[in-house]
Amino acid sequence: MQKKEQLYEGKAKKVFATENPDYVIVSYKDDATAFNGLKKGTITGKGVINNKMSNLMMAMLEKKGIPTHLVEQIDDRNTVVKKVSIVPLEVIIRNVAAGSFSKRYGVPEGTAFASPTIEFSYKNDDLGDPLINDYHALALNLASEQEIETIKKMAFAVNDAMKEFFRRLNIDLIDFKLEFGRFKGQIVLADEISPDTCRFWEAGSWDTEKHVSLDKDRFRRDLGGVEDAYQEVFKRLTGE
Ligand code: TMP
Repeated sequence: MQKKEQLYEGKAKKVFATENPDYVIVSYKDDATAFNGLKKGTITGKGVINNKMSNLMMAMLEKKGIPTHLVEQIDDRNTVVKKVSIVPLEVIIRNVAAGSFSKRYGVPEGTAFASPTIEFSYKNDDLGDPLINDYHALALNLASEQEIETIKKMAFAVNDAMKEFFRRLNIDLIDFKLEFGRFKGQIVLADEISPDTCRFWEAGSWDTEKHVSLDKDRFRRDLGGVEDAYQEVFKRLTGE
């Protein structure tokens, strides 16, 4: 499939039209941002890893019955996906306290949860993606009640599949962010699943004093070894 005009450029990806109005091509960049674009940098090789990893995850989830936007990978950085209309909610699932949860509720990072949690942020860069609840999302017409129910069920199903998948790679899935889109009346998993959008901790390290992050927190928190962490996760996934 051929790339036509560029439709959109985001912080980590570009989106191009194709000859098929139902499909677009996403092109993954090495650009990294954090804190709503305040911190900027480059993670060499990230675009290739995130493209391939996200496609592997989406293919794994499709096999488990979760519909996704994936159509086909074209090359290292480019993938054909369904042209969805994105539901403007960031859907965050957490298994262990970390990041903004720990800050907001005063819970030390690494505190295990009895059961996973879900929360939504309103996808709006001008407002800094504020936390939002179901009723607010309904009031603002961001999604219907049925869509929100479907999204919640799918997000927890993704968590079950991914936790199990990463456990085998000696990685604890601490939390992650998903985005969903509408395609021909159906809610499908969209955007990406990568070290940009997940917290991956070296297995078991969350209940010790210092966890070992294998994700974008190495960039956000200036921990060093950013590229190595992305490569390590990819190596465990593929053996490459
Ligand atoms: P948080 O603890 O900062 O709210 O992040 C929760 C998860 O969401 C974490 O795995 C990183 C991911 N995330 C994104 O994918 N995009 C974002 O803009 C933010 C803030 C977090």
